[in-house]
Amino acid sequence: MTVVEVKIKAQKESSYPIIIEQGCLDNAYKYIKQNSNANKYLVVTNTTIFPLYGEKLKNDNTEFIILPDGEEQKNTANLNKIVDKALEIKLERKDAIIALGGGVIGDMAGFAAAIYQRGIDFIQIPTTLLAQVDSSVGGKVAVNHKLGKNMIGAFYQPKLVLTDTNTLNTLDERQFKTGLSEVIKYAFIEKSCMAKEDFNLLNFLENNKKSILNKESETIQELIRICCELKSAVVNQDEKEKGLRAILNFGHTYAHAIENITEYKRYTHGEAVSIGMKLIFDLAKETNRISNDYYERAINLLNNYGLVINLDLKPNKELFYNIMKSDKKVLNNNINFIIPYAERLVRKENNIDKNIVLQGI
Ligand SMILES: NC(=O)c1ccc[n+]([C@@H]2O[C@H](COP(=O)([O-])OP(=O)(O)OC[C@H]3O[C@@H](n4cnc5c(N)ncnc54)[C@H](O)[C@@H]3O)[C@@H](O)[C@H]2O)c1
Repeated sequence: MTVVEVKIKAQKESSYPIIIEQGCLDNAYKYIKQNSNANKYLVVTNTTIFPLYGEKLKNDNTEFIILPDGEEQKNTANLNKIVDKALEIKLERKDAIIALGGGVIGDMAGFAAAIYQRGIDFIQIPTTLLAQVDSSVGGKVAVNHKLGKNMIGAFYQPKLVLTDTNTLNTLDERQFKTGLSEVIKYAFIEKSCMAKEDFNLLNFLENNKKSILNKESETIQELIRICCELKSAVVNQDEKEKGLRAILNFGHTYAHAIENITEYKRYTHGEAVSIGMKLIFDLAKETNRISNDYYERAINLLNNYGLVINLDLKPNKELFYNIMKSDKKVLNNNINFIIPYAERLVRKENNIDKNIVLQGI
C-alpha cells in the first residue's frame, strides 16, 4: 500500500490521504471509516462501472445512484438527480457521497457533495487512469453547461481518495492511453511542480515502458504515486489556480481548442492533450526555447507509448484561434501557453505571435 498525503497550504487543518493499493476496494469501508464519520453513504456511479465494481461497495448503510455513461451526462440534470436521491434517502450532513468511476462521475459527485446541505463528506474511488493520476486529486469538481465545459463547479477537497489499481484491468486500451497522456504531461512539467523530491518521472517512463504498458501492478502503483505527489505539490501551493496550478494545463491550450472544434467527439481528452503537447514542443523547438535533443526525447516518449500526436484534420485557422481566445483561461484577451524552456521545466507565456501559434495547425 502507498499513501500520498495531500495538504493544502491555505487550509491549515485540511489534509487527506490518497491510498493506492491493488485490491483495496475489497476493504473500502475500512479505509472510508478511518477518514469519515458518516453513517450513511450514497454511491454515485454509472451503468458501465456498477456491474464491474458496484458489488464491492454494497452494504446495509449504502444506497446507489446509477447514471448513464458519457461526458454528456456531466450536467445539471444528473446533478439534480443525485441531490434528489440524497434527499430521498435522507442523507444527513455528517454522511458521505462516494464517487465510483472516472473523471465524469468524480467531478459530478464531488460537486453534489459540495452543495448538498452546504457540503458533506466526499470520497473518491477513481477507476480510470486519468482519474487516478489527475481528476480525483486537487478538489476541482464541476458539471458542464451547454455553453462550456466545467462551467458550474467548485473547489471541494475529498476526505479520501481510494485507488485500486486492479480497476485498470477492465479499462480499454484507448482510455488507458488517455490516462498515460496526463501521466507523461507530469514528466514534462516535473521540475516546475516544485515537489520536495525529484522523482525523475521522465527517466522512470523511459525505463519502465514495458511494465507500464503491461499494467504491472507495482510499477503502476509507483507511477500513480509519483503523479499524485506532483499534483499534490502543485495544489498545496496553489489550490485555486491563482498562479502555479496553471502549469497542469501543459498541452491543454491547444487541447481545449481541438476538443471544441471537433465537438468533443473525435478525440478523448488525453488524445487532445498529447496532440497539444506535440504542438507546444514544436513551437518551443522552432523558437529555440529548447534543444533539439530534448525535443527528440520528448517526441520519442510520446511515440513510444503509442499516443496520438498528429491532428488528422485541417481546421480553419481563424476559427481555431478564436476558439483558443474564448477559453475560460484567457485573461485580458491574451492566450496563456505553458511552454517548455528546458528539460522538465515549463513556464507561462502569453504574448506569442499568432502565426507561430497556428504554424502546426
Ligand atoms: N477535476 C479535475 O481536476 C479534472 C482533471 C482532468 C479531467 N477532469 C474531467 O474528467 C473527465 C474525464 O475523465 P475520464 O477520462 O476518467 O472519463 P470517464 O469518466 O468518462 O471514463 C471513461 C470511460 O471509461 C469507463 N470506465 C471507467 N472506469 C472503468 C473501468 N475501471 N473499467 C472499464 N470502464 C471504465 C467510463 O464508464 C467511461 O465510459 C472529464 O469530464 C474532465 O473534465 C477533471
